[in-house]
Amino acid sequence: MHDVEHPFHVFSASDVRTALPMDKAVEAMKAAFKELSTGAVTVPLRTHMAISEHDADVLVMSCYSPRLEQVGLKIITLHPHNLDRGLPFIQATVMLVDAERGTPLAVMSGAVLTAIRTGAASGAATDVLARANASRVAIFGSGTQAATQLEGMCTVRPIRSATVFDLDHTRARRFASRMEESLKIEVSVASTAAAALAEADIVCTATTSRMPVFEDADIAPGTHINAIGVYKPHEREIPGATVARARCVVDERSAAWEEAGELILARKEGLISESHVYAELGEILAGLKVGRQSEDEITLFKSVGIANQDLSAAHAVLARGTRLGLGSSVSL
Ligand SMILES: NC(=O)c1ccc[n+]([C@@H]2O[C@H](COP(=O)([O-])OP(=O)(O)OC[C@H]3O[C@@H](n4cnc5c(N)ncnc54)[C@H](O)[C@@H]3O)[C@@H](O)[C@H]2O)c1
Repeated sequence: MHDVEHPFHVFSASDVRTALPMDKAVEAMKAAFKELSTGAVTVPLRTHMAISEHDADVLVMSCYSPRLEQVGLKIITLHPHNLDRGLPFIQATVMLVDAERGTPLAVMSGAVLTAIRTGAASGAATDVLARANASRVAIFGSGTQAATQLEGMCTVRPIRSATVFDLDHTRARRFASRMEESLKIEVSVASTAAAALAEADIVCTATTSRMPVFEDADIAPGTHINAIGVYKPHEREIPGATVARARCVVDERSAAWEEAGELILARKEGLISESHVYAELGEILAGLKVGRQSEDEITLFKSVGIANQDLSAAHAVLARGTRLGLGSSVSL
């Protein structure tokens, strides 16, 4: 028996950003959600580990895709006190393995990858659920995810303006000027949640809040909502009443009923039953269900994040990154 040396690619955060522009990421997420909802991919439920000493969580997410002939593995850490240390709340690493031979192929920065694929998932959902002429966004939260959420929505709709609401007004102001510069749209800061929602066609919640970030009465008919922030059964960003009156679409049913507090709490309160989840996003993308059905219905996409999103995004980074000569290569 002898070891054969294979090139093993290493991609930094900046390599990932260059290799995976948002339009390509939206395409990759559409393919990922389709294969997820047609049973063409193996995705075990992720492992949650609490580091209670530091009020932090670790998630381990794995996936195998026969279409991509690859296995993906992500370790992601969520440290809420990191903001005070000047460090990101979320840090992650993603690894790819060749499915046929079991050979390790690449490792890459997972924090940027996570932000891009999560924004791209909302882009894919917005594309099939928001009104065709939706042009004004209200965004809750002004952190890492909020930036790529806005970018994802701008990729699929002619967005002209956005209003951001964050409990941290200074952070919101910095976000607004950064986003104006990079997306070339008008971005203003709202002083209340209700003010942020006043003219919104699309609402996105990307916060670390454990309770609803707006009042149900402030959501107008015809609104599409992307809710991405909560992944614990006892927490929610969206009021139960909004969940109950919305056409509800999830990334994956079993993961949503395990982790999405919005759905789990609304069901506990008797506001919805399990059949209230109309579809998985992939069922709509695969043409098995239709997306938005009228101009005035409220649609809600709730995502908790699925491992095959990471695999599809990482696969695209490896393919485009090597073509563009990004990253470095080592022998293990
Ligand atoms: N669905 C997915 O696939 C997915 C992927 C990655 C992260 N997430 C989740 O996205 C959320 C945001 O992550 P991040 O990396 O951007 O975090 P972050 O810490 O960079 O930003 C979160 C922001 O939310 C703000 N906030 C908290 N409560 C608020 C409220 N009630 N109203 C308005 N703003 C409020 C905070 O002040 C902060 O600026 C987290 O909950 C994370 O778990 C989801």
